[in-house]
Amino acid sequence: MPDRILVVDDDEQMKFMLAEALAARGYQVDVVGDAETALERLDEGTYAIVLLDIFLPGMDGMEALPRILERDPGLPVILITGHGTRELAYKAIQGGAYDFFEKPFKMDEFATVLRRALERRALTQEVRTLSQQLDGATGFASIVGESEPMRDVFRLVNKVMSTDVTVLIRGESGTGKELVAEAIHRRSPRHDKPFVKLNCVAIPESLLESELFGHEEGSFTGATARRQGKFEQANHGTIFLDEIGDMGLATQAKILRVLQEREFDRVGGSESVKVDVRVIAATNKDLVKAVEDGTFREDLYFRLNVFSIGLPPLRSRQGDLARLIDHFVARSSRKLAKPLDAFSPDAMNLLLAHAWPGNVRELENVVERAAVLADRPVMDVDCLPAQLLTFAGTTPEEPTIAPGQSLDDALTDIERQLIRSALRHTGGVQTRAAKLLGITERSLWHRVKKLDIDVDEIKDAKPDA
Ligand SMILES: Nc1ncnc2c1ncn2[C@@H]1O[C@H](COP(=O)(O)OP(=O)(O)OP(=O)(O)O)[C@@H](O)[C@H]1O
Ligand SMILES: [Mg+2]
Repeated sequence: MPDRILVVDDDEQMKFMLAEALAARGYQVDVVGDAETALERLDEGTYAIVLLDIFLPGMDGMEALPRILERDPGLPVILITGHGTRELAYKAIQGGAYDFFEKPFKMDEFATVLRRALERRALTQEVRTLSQQLDGATGFASIVGESEPMRDVFRLVNKVMSTDVTVLIRGESGTGKELVAEAIHRRSPRHDKPFVKLNCVAIPESLLESELFGHEEGSFTGATARRQGKFEQANHGTIFLDEIGDMGLATQAKILRVLQEREFDRVGGSESVKVDVRVIAATNKDLVKAVEDGTFREDLYFRLNVFSIGLPPLRSRQGDLARLIDHFVARSSRKLAKPLDAFSPDAMNLLLAHAWPGNVRELENVVERAAVLADRPVMDVDCLPAQLLTFAGTTPEEPTIAPGQSLDDALTDIERQLIRSALRHTGGVQTRAAKLLGITERSLWHRVKKLDIDVDEIKDAKPDA
């Protein structure tokens, strides 16, 4: 795409001359006669450069400059000045203009300045995208997802991020719970305060309380000094309690107290400590069931469940799969400093057919592994792990024919088994199962009908890991 240049000048001759000369050099030029129209154009589209006359009817160039830069701080603005306006031009440079040029000017010199400005523009844009990608590691930008279930997630995140409301994030392992928790914190008024994570399964129950609330010196064997717990470390910020469904009942009672009273006791302490902490919790367990089973306090569940966000498993957001693959390929390529473009069509078919029981984390691992193995920019099937290459979970037995069965009946049984297996493998998605079986979707549909296979029942079953 040619670079678009916006020329703002009221002099008819100048307008004509610039438009001709720039178009001849391959630029796409828009010419307007006053600053007001220029600002409107800038609101509508993106330009690579603005050439701005100082003397204009209505708002002059000096006034327009800050308004242009306000819209796009990295946009190079070159001022065009008449005789005796050098002073103004210097002021404009101080005000953020890229350069100025005096009329009448030599087109060749002008073209050189223009080219340099465009290069700088390209560079700042590259830096901007890069740093977005980098801070994307923690921010919102890096959460890939345009499928309807993910849009719902973003809508909820947007609603809750600027509040102090306790959030419960539910979802299977690897669906992005931690990523979402961090995004909420980063976008909250507490973003410049600590985000403290605690994985409740990683810590033995006997130590969890001290980890959360800290302890006083001598409160138990080994407690040689007073220690701050995670809640104190997170003061004014956010605490992320991961895998909260695995927390023991005694600790649950203490968490409930913090949620209700915003205070707690250190282990071995006699005075309560007050804190201002926002709590985000996550779990891959069904807490309703845990409450029924008596392993999770109902009152704590209600407190946590005030605002709950459910992350969909990857198999139910087929639309995001290709986007996530692209995202991880690009990221691996950057990380490994290795030119990687994409997967070959065959490899892509296998990736799209897999049911991803380990969700985004599994996908991320598969792509990173492929990226390491790849010796060409296009990664082929040989870079994929075995779990993607075969879909039959069981070792095939020698086929048998039951007494009274015909060869056709036996073949039908085998066919049914293979189709069920492919459907199980793809989480019941027929397009993908058809690909795995090397038949058209239409043919699969006919066979499913003929063989009386219950796709819904297969769909509801969790895929085997
Ligand atoms: N929508 C997404 N876009 C980009 N990356 C994602 C997305 N969802 C998850 N990831 C990545 O997948 C990995 C797993 O995500 P995360 O740790 O947030 O999941 P989790 O639900 O907390 O998993 P677990 O239950 O295993 O702890 C992370 O590396 C994360 O960056
Ligand atoms: Mg996690």
